[in-house]
Amino acid sequence: MLSRPTVFIETYGCQMNVSDSELMLGRLADAGYVAVDSPVGADVILLNTCAIRDHAEQRVIGRLGELRRDMKPDTVVGVTGCMAQRLGPRLLEQAKHVSLVIGPDGYRALPALVEGARQGKRMAATDFDLEEHYEDFAPRRFDKVKAWIPVQRGCDYKCTYCIVPTTRGPERSRRLADVVREVEQVVADGMSEIVLLGQTVNSWFDGSHDFGDLLRAVGAVDGIRRVRFTSPHPNDFTDRVIAAMAETPTVCEHVHLPMQSGSSRTLKRMLRRYTREGYLDCVRRMREAIPGLSLTTDVIVGFPGESDADFEETLSAVREVSFMDAFTFKFSPREGTPATRMPEHDTVPDAVASERLDRLVATVRGIAREQNLQRLGQTVEVLLEKPARRGDLLQGRTRDFRTVLVPGDAAQLGSYLTVQLTGTTGATFTGTPVAKRQPLAMVG
Ligand code: 5AD
Ligand code: SF4
Repeated sequence: MLSRPTVFIETYGCQMNVSDSELMLGRLADAGYVAVDSPVGADVILLNTCAIRDHAEQRVIGRLGELRRDMKPDTVVGVTGCMAQRLGPRLLEQAKHVSLVIGPDGYRALPALVEGARQGKRMAATDFDLEEHYEDFAPRRFDKVKAWIPVQRGCDYKCTYCIVPTTRGPERSRRLADVVREVEQVVADGMSEIVLLGQTVNSWFDGSHDFGDLLRAVGAVDGIRRVRFTSPHPNDFTDRVIAAMAETPTVCEHVHLPMQSGSSRTLKRMLRRYTREGYLDCVRRMREAIPGLSLTTDVIVGFPGESDADFEETLSAVREVSFMDAFTFKFSPREGTPATRMPEHDTVPDAVASERLDRLVATVRGIAREQNLQRLGQTVEVLLEKPARRGDLLQGRTRDFRTVLVPGDAAQLGSYLTVQLTGTTGATFTGTPVAKRQPLAMVG
């Protein structure tokens, strides 16, 4: 009997890419491929890539070099995702062992493209398709505890630093009924936490329902215990959306709300379409409606023209909001974006950006530590997500997105525990179970 061809997918970048990889694997599994968890000896290797910063692309280029050394001569190597979209056929020129380049809207043709490549063709598929949501694909989920649910593709904001509108095309939303159907399937598969994904997820609109309607609909699906979403834009937190969050018990008390800068002057140059005050007002409205809300954020330092005073405003906004955590980045110029056309003398020297990044990271850590010390002794509900890196512990999350390590064994993954917070490193907690384990989901 002929053995079935094997495929290995390596994912870079955001959760949307993880979700796309799950869709790609589902598509290829339906076409007869077997997923393997190592590139060694695989018939097909796909790198699902990110283009958000130069560093993300350099990692992929390094990885392609390694693969060229180690792969079987007849292995098909494909590059998919945002870097594939950005570079298109240029990638085929630059890396001769790459035979497939497929952008985020091209995965429907994946089996045919891979088949063509196995027969020696080299192909690029980088057209956008505004109807494409891969509605009929059955994702092969990597995570068994929480399910990524893409609800929106593309982005219509045009922040001046950002490559995403170029790599993922215009914004479009799935229909509410289709999303609800996927969530029901997730429950049938034994999961009780969902994360709705979109580039500006709270601008989701399917022609008759807004994001508030979507939260209420998925939040009411029988068996769903936790609803999260990422990443929202501050301007799309209407009163309706905030009310839906507050009134839907399954929606968790955590929002990842990208701020990017605390300086109105910098925000304007970033074309974020809100001021410092507008952002802080959004935070205030959410905190008033949702007791115990925790916030995390994204911040860029060293954006062209950012002065010391601008950066101080970022630090003060970070303190004022009291974020639980932040992803912090040095500005990375992306080819073709408006920020690359700002005057040369506005460029922030790398040493200055590095120093700002260090100060920002220290500030965020200090705030988290203070918050976490105050929480010691509290009793919280934890969903056990995965084995911890350290020995016999399991890693779980509270509803407000804090990480807790508890003793336990792998059979408990996916279940909820009531835990008392007994220790903290400043960033994560250790906890002790205080009540009996509860069943995973109340299906039915
Ligand atoms: N340089 C640095 N960081 C960037 N981000 C997006 N584009 C860039 C860039 N050109 C950051 C933003 C965004 C996160 C996903 O990545 O903070 O919210
Ligand atoms: Fe995700 Fe943006 Fe990176 Fe694309 S460029 S993978 S959308 S973070």
